[in-house]
Amino acid sequence: KFEGLALTPPMGWNSWNYFRDKINEDVIKQIADAMVATGLSDAGYEYINLDDCWQIGRDEKGYIVVDSINFPSGMKALADYVHSRGLKFGLYSCAGEMTCMKRPGGRGYEFQDAWTYAQWGVDYLKYDFCFHGTQDSRASYKTMRDALYRAGRPIVFSICEWGSTEPWLWAGEMGHLYRTTIDIMDCADCRLSTGARGWMNILEEQVPIWTYNGPGHWNDPDMLEVGNGGLSMLENKSHFTMWCMLSAPLILGNDLRAMETDILKILENEDLIAIDQDPMGKSAFRYIKDEDIDIWCKQLTGNRWAVAILNRSEYERPYKCEWNIRAMTRYFEDWENKGDYKIWNVWDKKKMGTTADDLEGTLSGRDVLLLVLESN
Ligand code: DGJ
Repeated sequence: KFEGLALTPPMGWNSWNYFRDKINEDVIKQIADAMVATGLSDAGYEYINLDDCWQIGRDEKGYIVVDSINFPSGMKALADYVHSRGLKFGLYSCAGEMTCMKRPGGRGYEFQDAWTYAQWGVDYLKYDFCFHGTQDSRASYKTMRDALYRAGRPIVFSICEWGSTEPWLWAGEMGHLYRTTIDIMDCADCRLSTGARGWMNILEEQVPIWTYNGPGHWNDPDMLEVGNGGLSMLENKSHFTMWCMLSAPLILGNDLRAMETDILKILENEDLIAIDQDPMGKSAFRYIKDEDIDIWCKQLTGNRWAVAILNRSEYERPYKCEWNIRAMTRYFEDWENKGDYKIWNVWDKKKMGTTADDLEGTLSGRDVLLLVLESN
């Protein structure tokens, strides 16, 4: 794969979570405009990724054919437009014979498609795993990785193999990020018969795999649902906070053209983004799971660390943090504990004393307290 890409978790937007198959080039252009106009691009979001449902068939030579009703100007023109806004352009395909929405997949056309994407100016490829029959996932992704490499354009390769294997064991060599779960849904705690689930359910599945994360190979707990209507404001805030604690790719999934100010404030919070984008690329690990309260710890550069205290229940709950610092920092690398730490409340932008004293309080249902600790 191309080295040197995605050294911090990719940031951008993707059409699937909100638009599904109701997507066309005007929407993509308007989203690109909104990304710039809202200031989200200044905050670090750079990819505009078109998901499933842009492709319609193959021509007699095997080249992929773009749906000319919804994308009459073609993909090269769309990529040029996105680039003209100072952003990068991402596209979607699938390792199987068809995409999940039964559009033509990449199977058997990998090198031809990779070449086509490079000609169009694609910067990011999300590669799904529907209709794969007996295909081996590792071999399938290796083929596309090699095809992209051969095509010569640096393209971030996003592996979307969400079911049959444990991609964290192998996908870091194939791509720059790899899905670790089935699809996210617009809820905190719910599960559909298809397997799709809410962000708190997905968070739970990230607990055992936090060590696999790192620069150039990110665990991908799926795209954000912040601002899509199904979450309360506190749930939106906690979803975003926990994705930053995980060093997750921050791929927005809402309609950027029509966003409440409170949603925009969450998405462009520079202190949160800095925690997500910390160059060490460490994921948080879960230090404590009580009945309703989680405590997560994440190592940051500069001998700092972040602590998130999450109320998973829907109701107000007391929390207490006793600052057992040795235990809370036990997995940190090249780390020296330096006595007590100053505590900074990131969302409220205020000091909260030091770790010399226990920290106690109450959290509203589904709220999170995010702290950054620095040596005194
Ligand atoms: C399944 C993926 O997990 C989703 O994110 C989306 O890309 C759909 N496929 C599109 O069909």
